Amino acid sequence: MSTALIILAAGKGTRMNSDLPKVLHPIAQASMLEHAMSAGRALNPDRTIIVAGHGADAVRAAVAEIDETAEVVLQEEQKGTAHAVDQARAALDGFEGDAVILYGDTPFLQSETLEHMVAARAQADLVVLGFDAADPGRYGRLVMQGDSLEKIVEFKDANESQRAITFCNSGLMACDATVMFDLLSKVSNENASGEYYLTDLVELARGEGLAVTAVSCDESETLGVNSRADLAQAEQVFQQRARADLQEMGVTLMAPETVFLAYDTVIGRDTVIEPNVVFGTDVTIESGALIRAFSHLEGCHVSRGAKVGPYARLRPGAELAEDTHIGNFVEIKNAEIAAGAKVNHLSYIGDASVGEATNIGAGTITCNYDGVMKHRTEIGPRAFIGSNTLLIAPVKVGRDAMTASGTVVTKDVEAEDLAISRVPQTNKAGRAGKLMDMLRAKKARLTKGTK
Ligand code: UD1
Ligand code: MG
Repeated sequence: MSTALIILAAGKGTRMNSDLPKVLHPIAQASMLEHAMSAGRALNPDRTIIVAGHGADAVRAAVAEIDETAEVVLQEEQKGTAHAVDQARAALDGFEGDAVILYGDTPFLQSETLEHMVAARAQADLVVLGFDAADPGRYGRLVMQGDSLEKIVEFKDANESQRAITFCNSGLMACDATVMFDLLSKVSNENASGEYYLTDLVELARGEGLAVTAVSCDESETLGVNSRADLAQAEQVFQQRARADLQEMGVTLMAPETVFLAYDTVIGRDTVIEPNVVFGTDVTIESGALIRAFSHLEGCHVSRGAKVGPYARLRPGAELAEDTHIGNFVEIKNAEIAAGAKVNHLSYIGDASVGEATNIGAGTITCNYDGVMKHRTEIGPRAFIGSNTLLIAPVKVGRDAMTASGTVVTKDVEAEDLAISRVPQTNKAGRAGKLMDMLRAKKARLTKGTK
């Protein structure tokens, strides 16, 4: 069976008060649209159609980044949810199979729920996803008759007894695509809002003798985002869920509420995360690592037994092998740190490779950028880089080599050699005391004049 996903994302999101289209606002560093698309991916859709309107160019660009096979169609004017779905008609001309309709601004939908909907299609021609609302507010109400869904009444159009119903419309639907587009051409806009309601498909289908049913999901999955406050709330819900998932998988979070995860963070068993650690996207941490307080990680891979932080920053391309130590105020970018190597204090290591068991002294900097281009620094195994070494890339330091503290390395250092570049020191006997006397006398002369 073929499936086409139709994701509605044309709405303005007025209450967001934003230049960014609502569906592109991020939760755990992925746009709401990306969350919706990734839930939809569970159905292995043959086609994915995004209906864009407000901010369509930005939506198109974002969709291309997420899934280049997804198609974007334009709804120029927002005339209602049925009108929105109808914009996919031309794109799906000749398509045979089911259409599943999702909203781009409901990021918590679980893949299993979509699978339930599709399974329920075996018993019904049209399946609607409902939920029991704690506070039904302005949601459309599902009027059931046993297992059969009789109609959906929008809040604005509902009478008192219908408003008392708590089983509400999530907006999601599944139906044969050809049947759905036939029904859509019969939807009118004669209702309290003057909009084309997708919800009218229910009564239209029943009028044609088709079977309509509703399946139910937890209300938390249908949580929509309409304002910045909703967005913050959604972020919180996501974080709580992601932290709990990690804990269940055997990760220790010392102060879970202070750890911020991205939608794709992967952390292995028996890793310990201290308080106030923030994850950007694309981070994988293997088992048994220690991430100490106030560290920030993105686009990196941390192997088993590694220790990171406190106050470390791992940027994209940081690749830490087993048992490496990255200490306080150290930044690693696009660099491979081999097993057992240590960069413990106040360093920047970028565009570099550091060999096994090498020790990088405090304050070492790889000078990778000449203002125009980036250059690499390669340090071999078991090297000892003295404190405050500057490595002017491109440059290589061989295995078992050393640099003396304060050295500015401008040319390659061969294996086992020592590089030293320092101004020779001279000591002047008794000069410190004389200098101090001179300075104190000078200060006395200057302050006398001001009294
Ligand atoms: C809709 C449902 C309501 C349901 C609620 C759940 C209808 C008529 N009503 O109401 O029963 O309880 O969702 O949240 O379907 N959109 C477009 N183009 C349009 C209009 C909407 O793309 O012309 C998109 C919006 O961006 C949004 C979604 O469709 O993602 C829902 O639209 P919205 O205006 O929020 O519908 P509700 O009035 O909330
Ligand atoms: Mg809504």
